[in-house]
Amino acid sequence: MNPKIILALETSCDETGVAILRGSELLTSEVASQVSEHKRYGGVVPEVASRNHLIYAPRLLERARRAAKIDISQVDAFAATSGPGLASSLMIGASIAKGLAVGFGKPYLAINHLEGHLLSPFFVASASNRCSDHGQDAPAIIRPNVSLVVSGGHTMSIFVRNIGEYQIIGHTVDDAAGEAFDKVAKLLGLGYPGGPEIEKQACSGNPTRFDLPRSMPDAENFSFSGLKTAVRYLLPKIGVIPSRADGEGPHARSLDPQVLQCDQSACERSLASARDDVVNDLCASFQQAIIDVLVGKTIAAAKKHDVDLVTVSGGVSCNKELRRQLQEACKRDRFEFKSAEPWLCTDNAAMIAFAASLRLQHGFQSSVTEEIDPNLALAH
Ligand code: KG4
Ligand code: ZN
Repeated sequence: MNPKIILALETSCDETGVAILRGSELLTSEVASQVSEHKRYGGVVPEVASRNHLIYAPRLLERARRAAKIDISQVDAFAATSGPGLASSLMIGASIAKGLAVGFGKPYLAINHLEGHLLSPFFVASASNRCSDHGQDAPAIIRPNVSLVVSGGHTMSIFVRNIGEYQIIGHTVDDAAGEAFDKVAKLLGLGYPGGPEIEKQACSGNPTRFDLPRSMPDAENFSFSGLKTAVRYLLPKIGVIPSRADGEGPHARSLDPQVLQCDQSACERSLASARDDVVNDLCASFQQAIIDVLVGKTIAAAKKHDVDLVTVSGGVSCNKELRRQLQEACKRDRFEFKSAEPWLCTDNAAMIAFAASLRLQHGFQSSVTEEIDPNLALAH
Protein backbone atom coordinates (compact mmCIF):
# COMPACT_ATOMS: atom_id res chain seq x y z
CA MET A 1 0.00 0.00 0.00
CA ASN A 2 1.35 3.44 -0.94
CA PRO A 3 1.97 5.91 1.87
CA LYS A 4 -0.98 8.24 2.36
CA ILE A 5 -0.72 11.86 1.20
CA ILE A 6 -2.22 14.35 3.62
CA LEU A 7 -2.73 18.05 2.99
CA ALA A 8 -3.24 20.15 6.12
CA LEU A 9 -4.06 23.77 6.86
CA GLU A 10 -3.35 25.67 10.07
CA THR A 11 -5.10 29.02 10.59
CA SER A 12 -5.88 29.07 14.31
CA CYS A 13 -4.29 32.43 15.04
CA ASP A 14 -2.02 34.66 12.96
CA GLU A 15 0.14 32.20 11.03
CA THR A 16 -1.23 30.77 7.79
CA GLY A 17 0.19 27.28 7.27
CA VAL A 18 -0.17 24.67 4.53
CA ALA A 19 1.74 21.36 4.58
CA ILE A 20 1.76 18.17 2.55
CA LEU A 21 2.91 14.92 4.14
CA ARG A 22 3.42 11.64 2.30
CA GLY A 23 3.60 8.86 4.87
CA SER A 24 6.19 10.22 7.27
CA GLU A 25 7.93 12.27 4.60
CA LEU A 26 7.21 15.97 4.77
CA LEU A 27 6.96 17.11 1.15
CA THR A 28 6.49 20.76 2.04
CA SER A 29 5.51 23.06 4.89
CA GLU A 30 4.64 26.64 3.97
CA VAL A 31 4.03 29.31 6.60
CA ALA A 32 3.04 32.93 5.99
CA SER A 33 3.69 34.93 9.12
CA GLN A 34 1.64 38.02 9.89
CA VAL A 35 3.89 39.19 12.72
CA SER A 36 4.85 42.43 11.00
CA GLU A 37 1.19 43.36 10.53
CA HIS A 38 0.23 42.73 14.17
CA LYS A 39 3.45 44.17 15.61
CA ARG A 40 2.19 47.74 15.71
CA TYR A 41 -0.77 46.68 17.89
CA GLY A 42 1.44 44.61 20.23
CA GLY A 43 -0.79 41.56 19.72
CA VAL A 44 -3.01 39.73 17.26
CA VAL A 45 -6.01 41.61 15.83
CA PRO A 46 -8.57 38.91 14.84
CA GLU A 47 -10.13 40.86 11.97
CA VAL A 48 -6.71 41.53 10.41
CA ALA A 49 -5.68 37.89 10.92
CA SER A 50 -8.74 36.40 9.17
CA ARG A 51 -8.52 38.81 6.22
CA ASN A 52 -4.89 37.80 5.77
CA HIS A 53 -5.68 34.07 5.97
CA LEU A 54 -8.13 34.59 3.12
CA ILE A 55 -5.39 36.17 1.04
CA TYR A 56 -2.50 33.85 1.99
CA ALA A 57 -4.16 30.41 2.16
CA PRO A 58 -4.95 30.02 -1.58
CA ARG A 59 -1.46 31.28 -2.48
CA LEU A 60 0.22 28.88 -0.07
CA LEU A 61 -1.93 26.00 -1.35
CA GLU A 62 -0.67 26.63 -4.87
CA ARG A 63 2.91 27.02 -3.68
CA ALA A 64 2.70 23.82 -1.59
CA ARG A 65 1.25 21.85 -4.47
CA ARG A 66 4.12 22.94 -6.72
CA ALA A 67 6.80 22.31 -4.09
CA ALA A 68 5.41 18.84 -3.37
CA LYS A 69 5.12 18.12 -7.12
CA ILE A 70 1.71 16.54 -6.72
CA ASP A 71 -1.73 17.14 -8.08
CA ILE A 72 -4.39 17.91 -5.47
CA SER A 73 -6.39 14.93 -6.77
CA GLN A 74 -3.58 12.66 -5.44
CA VAL A 75 -4.18 13.78 -1.85
CA ASP A 76 -5.69 10.99 0.27
CA ALA A 77 -7.07 13.14 3.11
CA PHE A 78 -7.52 16.82 3.95
CA ALA A 79 -7.02 18.17 7.46
CA ALA A 80 -7.35 21.48 9.26
CA THR A 81 -7.08 22.88 12.75
CA SER A 82 -10.62 23.06 14.12
CA GLY A 83 -9.80 24.68 17.49
CA PRO A 84 -8.91 26.09 19.91
CA GLY A 85 -8.15 29.48 18.42
CA LEU A 86 -9.79 32.57 16.96
CA ALA A 87 -13.15 31.68 15.38
CA SER A 88 -12.70 34.03 12.44
CA SER A 89 -9.28 32.52 11.71
CA LEU A 90 -10.17 28.85 12.28
CA MET A 91 -13.09 29.00 9.87
CA ILE A 92 -10.85 29.94 6.93
CA GLY A 93 -8.58 26.86 7.06
CA ALA A 94 -11.37 24.48 8.07
CA SER A 95 -13.67 25.69 5.27
CA ILE A 96 -10.95 25.24 2.65
CA ALA A 97 -10.04 21.72 3.88
CA LYS A 98 -13.69 20.68 4.04
CA GLY A 99 -14.35 22.08 0.56
CA LEU A 100 -11.41 20.15 -0.86
CA ALA A 101 -12.47 16.95 0.94
CA VAL A 102 -16.01 17.22 -0.42
CA GLY A 103 -14.84 18.24 -3.90
CA PHE A 104 -12.36 15.36 -4.23
CA GLY A 105 -14.45 12.85 -2.27
CA LYS A 106 -11.70 12.27 0.34
CA PRO A 107 -11.76 12.06 4.13
CA TYR A 108 -11.63 15.19 6.28
CA LEU A 109 -9.81 15.32 9.62
CA ALA A 110 -10.52 18.07 12.16
CA ILE A 111 -7.41 18.41 14.32
CA ASN A 112 -7.10 19.97 17.75
CA HIS A 113 -4.30 22.55 17.62
CA LEU A 114 -2.97 21.35 20.99
CA GLU A 115 -2.81 17.78 19.73
CA GLY A 116 -0.73 19.10 16.81
CA HIS A 117 1.71 20.65 19.29
CA LEU A 118 1.85 17.72 21.71
CA LEU A 119 2.56 15.11 19.02
CA SER A 120 5.18 17.26 17.26
CA PRO A 121 8.16 16.02 19.35
CA PHE A 122 7.60 12.60 17.73
CA PHE A 123 7.70 13.94 14.20
CA VAL A 124 11.41 13.56 13.51
CA ALA A 125 11.49 10.11 15.10
CA SER A 126 8.76 8.95 12.72
CA ALA A 127 10.61 10.28 9.66
CA SER A 128 13.52 7.96 10.39
CA ASN A 129 11.11 5.02 10.60
CA ARG A 130 10.46 5.01 6.88
CA CYS A 131 10.46 1.59 5.26
CA SER A 132 11.24 2.91 1.81
CA ASP A 133 12.03 -0.58 0.46
CA HIS A 134 8.36 -1.41 0.60
CA GLY A 135 7.08 2.09 -0.14
CA GLN A 136 5.38 1.94 3.26
CA ASP A 137 5.78 3.73 6.54
CA ALA A 138 5.99 2.21 9.97
CA PRO A 139 3.36 3.97 12.10
CA ALA A 140 4.96 6.42 14.53
CA ILE A 141 5.00 4.96 18.01
CA ILE A 142 3.61 7.39 20.55
CA ARG A 143 4.93 6.23 23.91
CA PRO A 144 3.15 7.31 27.08
CA ASN A 145 4.63 10.61 28.18
CA VAL A 146 4.07 13.76 30.17
CA SER A 147 3.82 16.55 27.64
CA LEU A 148 4.35 20.24 28.34
CA VAL A 149 2.58 22.40 25.75
CA VAL A 150 3.66 25.96 26.22
CA SER A 151 2.63 28.66 23.76
CA GLY A 152 1.13 32.11 23.48
CA GLY A 153 -2.40 30.88 24.07
CA HIS A 154 -1.83 27.80 26.24
CA THR A 155 0.23 26.41 29.06
CA MET A 156 -0.67 22.84 29.86
CA SER A 157 0.81 19.61 31.13
CA ILE A 158 -0.83 16.51 29.69
CA PHE A 159 -0.55 12.81 30.41
CA VAL A 160 -0.44 11.27 26.92
CA ARG A 161 -1.30 7.55 26.87
CA ASN A 162 -1.73 7.15 23.11
CA ILE A 163 -3.22 8.99 20.10
CA GLY A 164 -6.46 10.58 21.28
CA GLU A 165 -5.95 9.42 24.90
CA TYR A 166 -5.08 12.56 26.77
CA GLN A 167 -5.52 13.61 30.38
CA ILE A 168 -4.98 17.23 31.33
CA ILE A 169 -2.79 17.37 34.43
CA GLY A 170 -2.51 21.13 34.81
CA HIS A 171 -3.35 24.27 32.88
CA THR A 172 -2.88 27.97 33.42
CA VAL A 173 -5.55 29.64 35.51
CA ASP A 174 -4.75 33.06 33.99
CA ASP A 175 -2.04 34.03 31.47
CA ALA A 176 -0.23 31.51 29.30
CA ALA A 177 3.57 31.57 29.62
CA GLY A 178 3.96 32.99 26.10
CA GLU A 179 1.38 35.65 26.91
CA ALA A 180 3.43 36.63 29.98
CA PHE A 181 6.56 36.89 27.78
CA ASP A 182 4.62 39.05 25.30
CA LYS A 183 3.12 41.33 27.98
CA VAL A 184 6.39 41.87 29.85
CA ALA A 185 8.19 42.56 26.57
CA LYS A 186 5.53 45.18 25.82
CA LEU A 187 6.06 46.81 29.24
CA LEU A 188 9.77 46.99 28.49
CA GLY A 189 9.21 48.47 25.04
CA LEU A 190 10.67 45.37 23.37
CA GLY A 191 9.25 43.98 20.14
CA TYR A 192 6.44 41.53 19.43
CA PRO A 193 6.35 38.57 19.83
CA GLY A 194 8.01 39.11 23.17
CA GLY A 195 9.49 35.66 23.84
CA PRO A 196 12.40 35.83 21.39
CA GLU A 197 13.09 39.48 22.38
CA ILE A 198 13.23 38.67 26.09
CA GLU A 199 15.40 35.62 25.39
CA LYS A 200 17.86 37.84 23.48
CA GLN A 201 18.16 40.34 26.35
CA ALA A 202 18.30 37.56 28.94
CA CYS A 203 21.37 36.01 27.29
CA SER A 204 23.63 38.62 28.85
CA GLY A 205 21.60 39.14 32.03
CA ASN A 206 21.88 37.90 35.60
CA PRO A 207 18.93 35.58 36.36
CA THR A 208 19.37 35.91 40.14
CA ARG A 209 19.41 39.73 40.36
CA PHE A 210 15.65 40.20 40.84
CA ASP A 211 13.64 37.99 43.14
CA LEU A 212 10.40 37.39 41.22
CA PRO A 213 7.52 35.15 42.35
CA ARG A 214 7.07 31.50 41.38
CA SER A 215 3.29 31.17 41.76
CA MET A 216 1.44 28.10 43.07
CA PRO A 217 4.58 25.96 43.49
CA ASP A 218 2.72 22.94 44.91
CA ALA A 219 -0.25 22.97 42.54
CA GLU A 220 -0.56 21.13 39.22
CA ASN A 221 -2.05 24.23 37.56
CA PHE A 222 0.02 27.20 36.44
CA SER A 223 -0.36 30.95 37.04
CA PHE A 224 1.73 33.70 35.44
CA SER A 225 -0.28 36.89 35.87
CA GLY A 226 1.24 37.54 39.34
CA LEU A 227 4.71 37.36 37.84
CA LYS A 228 3.77 39.88 35.15
CA THR A 229 2.27 42.20 37.80
CA ALA A 230 5.40 41.83 39.96
CA VAL A 231 7.50 43.01 37.00
CA ARG A 232 5.09 45.91 36.43
CA TYR A 233 5.48 47.14 40.03
CA LEU A 234 9.23 46.55 40.06
CA LEU A 235 9.91 48.81 37.05
CA PRO A 236 9.58 52.22 38.75
CA LYS A 237 11.60 50.96 41.74
CA ILE A 238 14.55 50.10 39.50
CA GLY A 239 14.22 53.29 37.49
CA VAL A 240 12.71 51.85 34.31
CA ILE A 241 9.71 53.76 33.01
CA PRO A 242 7.14 51.28 31.67
CA SER A 243 6.54 51.52 27.95
CA ARG A 244 3.35 53.07 26.60
CA ALA A 245 0.71 50.53 25.69
CA ASP A 246 1.88 50.46 22.05
CA GLY A 247 5.42 49.61 23.12
CA GLU A 248 6.76 52.54 21.07
CA GLY A 249 7.78 56.08 21.74
CA PRO A 250 10.02 57.99 24.08
CA HIS A 251 9.06 56.11 27.22
CA ALA A 252 9.98 52.73 25.85
CA ARG A 253 12.85 51.23 27.83
CA SER A 254 13.95 54.55 29.28
CA LEU A 255 15.63 54.76 32.65
CA ASP A 256 14.27 57.39 35.00
CA PRO A 257 16.95 60.18 34.78
CA GLN A 258 16.46 61.06 38.45
CA VAL A 259 18.06 57.79 39.51
CA LEU A 260 21.35 58.89 37.94
CA GLN A 261 22.75 62.28 38.89
CA CYS A 262 25.90 63.10 36.93
CA ASP A 263 27.38 65.39 34.25
CA GLN A 264 25.83 65.30 30.77
CA SER A 265 28.07 62.96 28.70
CA ALA A 266 29.03 60.65 31.57
CA CYS A 267 25.36 60.57 32.47
CA GLU A 268 24.38 59.57 28.94
CA ARG A 269 26.98 56.79 28.88
CA SER A 270 26.09 55.38 32.27
CA LEU A 271 22.39 55.84 31.57
CA ALA A 272 22.72 53.70 28.45
CA SER A 273 24.74 50.95 30.09
CA ALA A 274 22.72 50.98 33.30
CA ARG A 275 19.56 50.74 31.23
CA ASP A 276 20.89 47.78 29.28
CA ASP A 277 22.18 45.99 32.40
CA VAL A 278 18.98 46.47 34.31
CA VAL A 279 16.80 45.37 31.39
CA ASN A 280 19.02 42.36 30.65
CA ASP A 281 19.01 41.31 34.31
CA LEU A 282 15.26 41.79 34.54
CA CYS A 283 14.66 39.72 31.40
CA ALA A 284 16.96 36.97 32.69
CA SER A 285 15.26 36.95 36.11
CA PHE A 286 11.79 36.92 34.55
CA GLN A 287 12.72 34.13 32.12
CA GLN A 288 14.22 32.08 34.97
CA ALA A 289 11.04 32.48 37.05
CA ILE A 290 9.00 31.05 34.17
CA ILE A 291 11.48 28.23 33.55
CA ASP A 292 11.57 27.24 37.25
CA VAL A 293 7.78 26.89 37.28
CA LEU A 294 7.57 24.99 33.98
CA VAL A 295 10.42 22.61 34.80
CA GLY A 296 9.35 22.00 38.42
CA LYS A 297 5.74 21.18 37.58
CA THR A 298 6.61 19.05 34.54
CA ILE A 299 9.06 16.88 36.48
CA ALA A 300 6.58 16.53 39.36
CA ALA A 301 3.88 15.45 36.88
CA ALA A 302 6.21 12.92 35.22
CA LYS A 303 7.00 11.38 38.62
CA LYS A 304 3.35 11.26 39.62
CA HIS A 305 2.21 9.62 36.37
CA ASP A 306 5.09 7.17 36.36
CA VAL A 307 6.19 7.75 32.75
CA ASP A 308 9.73 7.45 31.45
CA LEU A 309 9.40 10.17 28.81
CA VAL A 310 8.89 13.94 28.99
CA THR A 311 8.12 16.02 25.89
CA VAL A 312 7.86 19.76 25.26
CA SER A 313 6.31 21.69 22.38
CA GLY A 314 4.71 25.02 21.47
CA GLY A 315 6.18 28.44 20.69
CA VAL A 316 7.75 29.03 24.12
CA SER A 317 9.69 25.76 23.75
CA CYS A 318 11.84 27.57 21.15
CA ASN A 319 13.47 29.12 24.23
CA LYS A 320 16.95 27.59 24.43
CA GLU A 321 17.31 28.07 28.17
CA LEU A 322 13.98 26.33 28.82
CA ARG A 323 14.99 23.40 26.60
CA ARG A 324 18.41 23.17 28.25
CA GLN A 325 17.12 23.29 31.82
CA LEU A 326 14.22 20.90 31.17
CA GLN A 327 16.59 18.46 29.49
CA GLU A 328 19.01 18.70 32.43
CA ALA A 329 16.22 18.13 34.95
CA CYS A 330 15.04 15.09 32.96
CA LYS A 331 18.56 13.67 32.91
CA ARG A 332 18.86 14.19 36.68
CA ASP A 333 15.61 12.30 37.27
CA ARG A 334 16.25 9.69 34.56
CA PHE A 335 13.46 10.67 32.18
CA GLU A 336 14.03 10.54 28.47
CA PHE A 337 13.45 13.97 26.93
CA LYS A 338 12.07 14.84 23.51
CA SER A 339 11.44 18.33 22.22
CA ALA A 340 9.86 19.44 18.98
CA GLU A 341 12.46 20.80 16.58
CA PRO A 342 12.55 24.62 16.78
CA TRP A 343 10.94 25.10 13.33
CA LEU A 344 8.04 22.90 14.50
CA CYS A 345 7.53 24.74 17.81
CA THR A 346 5.71 27.82 16.55
CA ASP A 347 2.44 27.42 14.65
CA ASN A 348 2.71 25.48 11.39
CA ALA A 349 0.67 23.03 9.32
CA ALA A 350 3.28 20.21 9.35
CA MET A 351 2.32 19.34 12.93
CA ILE A 352 -1.37 19.31 11.91
CA ALA A 353 -0.61 17.00 8.96
CA PHE A 354 1.42 14.73 11.25
CA ALA A 355 -1.40 14.54 13.83
CA ALA A 356 -3.86 13.85 10.99
CA SER A 357 -1.69 11.02 9.63
CA LEU A 358 -1.51 9.40 13.07
CA ARG A 359 -5.26 9.78 13.52
CA LEU A 360 -5.90 8.25 10.11
CA GLN A 361 -3.62 5.29 10.95
CA HIS A 362 -5.63 4.81 14.15
CA GLY A 363 -8.91 4.77 12.24
CA PHE A 364 -10.16 8.24 13.14
CA GLN A 365 -11.95 10.53 10.65
CA SER A 366 -14.16 13.58 11.05
CA SER A 367 -17.46 14.51 9.50
CA VAL A 368 -17.45 17.54 7.21
CA THR A 369 -20.34 18.83 9.28
CA GLU A 370 -18.00 19.11 12.28
CA GLU A 371 -17.92 22.76 13.35
CA ILE A 372 -14.85 24.72 14.36
CA ASP A 373 -14.73 25.36 18.10
CA PRO A 374 -12.68 28.31 19.46
CA ASN A 375 -12.67 26.59 22.88
CA LEU A 376 -12.17 23.04 21.66
CA ALA A 377 -11.12 20.85 24.60
CA LEU A 378 -8.26 18.40 24.26
CA ALA A 379 -9.76 16.00 26.76
CA HIS A 380 -12.95 15.82 28.82
O1 KG4 B 1 2.81 28.14 19.49
P1 KG4 B 1 2.81 29.58 19.09
O2 KG4 B 1 3.47 29.94 17.78
O3 KG4 B 1 1.36 30.15 19.02
C1 KG4 B 1 0.33 29.77 19.90
O4 KG4 B 1 -0.25 28.69 19.69
O5 KG4 B 1 0.13 30.56 20.84
O6 KG4 B 1 3.49 30.39 20.29
C2 KG4 B 1 3.71 31.77 20.22
C3 KG4 B 1 4.29 32.22 21.57
C4 KG4 B 1 4.42 33.73 21.71
O7 KG4 B 1 3.85 34.10 22.94
C5 KG4 B 1 5.93 33.96 21.71
O8 KG4 B 1 6.33 35.08 22.48
C6 KG4 B 1 6.44 32.66 22.31
O9 KG4 B 1 5.62 31.67 21.73
N1 KG4 B 1 7.83 32.41 21.96
C7 KG4 B 1 8.85 32.37 22.86
C8 KG4 B 1 10.03 32.18 22.11
N2 KG4 B 1 9.70 32.08 20.79
C9 KG4 B 1 8.35 32.24 20.71
N3 KG4 B 1 8.83 32.49 24.20
C10 KG4 B 1 10.02 32.42 24.83
N4 KG4 B 1 11.21 32.27 24.19
C11 KG4 B 1 11.25 32.14 22.84
N5 KG4 B 1 12.42 31.98 22.22
ZN1 ZN C 1 0.19 27.06 18.81
